[in-house]
Amino acid sequence: MDEKKFCSAVVVAAGKGTRFGSDIPKQFLEIGGKPVLYYSLKALCDSDIIDEIIIVTSEEWIDFVTEEIVRKYEMEKVQAIVLGGDERYDSVFAGLMSVDISADYVYIHDGARPMLTEDILRRGFETVSKYGTAVAAIPSSDTVKITDEDMTVTSTPDRNSVWRIQTPQIFEYDMIIKAYFSLTDEDKKGLTDDAMIIERKTDNPVHLFIGSEDNIKITSPGDLEIAKQKLSK
Ligand code: CTP
Ligand code: MG
Repeated sequence: MDEKKFCSAVVVAAGKGTRFGSDIPKQFLEIGGKPVLYYSLKALCDSDIIDEIIIVTSEEWIDFVTEEIVRKYEMEKVQAIVLGGDERYDSVFAGLMSVDISADYVYIHDGARPMLTEDILRRGFETVSKYGTAVAAIPSSDTVKITDEDMTVTSTPDRNSVWRIQTPQIFEYDMIIKAYFSLTDEDKKGLTDDAMIIERKTDNPVHLFIGSEDNIKITSPGDLEIAKQKLSK
């Protein structure tokens, strides 16, 4: 049998939640008496695929994460809780720097996506094992249009080739850390996910796998209500 691949997970939870608009960042609001961030960490802790977890958060929240989540729920796979940065890519980079250097794969996940499941982790593992990259996605049921600044349509991509991207995004550790190290200020413009860094900085193809319709990112208050309903089932 092949040796177990060492899988690290970097969970980013250093955002301010500007669009959500609450005083407490959305990843720390409660669902069923537990913070949003608890749920994805729990799925990672419970999975045999995942060997270590790195949490990235902001200075004000380090104590809370340590005491009220990691200690309280005895999350023993958590190896480090580190400080994030101003942009999501700064936070991811900080997390990657704490990953065990012998890791094979790293799962990068948004702390604001509480509906992570074992099925998603497994499909991601199967894909990254085969291709070296694995990005959770779901087919777009809406037609997507590209416009110019005046909202005039310039093109309409074939809907069958349009996907909505989620996390986790999983990469060979050596590939993603090298790509992050090589980022210039120019490369950072308009970066909205980790896969874009692989696309811009390497020749490796980025492979998608089916995430889940339920795997929403909490962005606005309505999303929190949806997550509450789904998690109470
Ligand atoms: N994130 C982070 N560090 C940042 C920005 C974002 O760790 N500097 C994390 C968020 O905490 C979240 C994930 O990245 O788990 C996805 O980001 P997003 O949904 O954009 O969250 P926020 O940036 O907090 O929200 P907003 O953009 O509305 O301010
Ligand atoms: Mg943001």
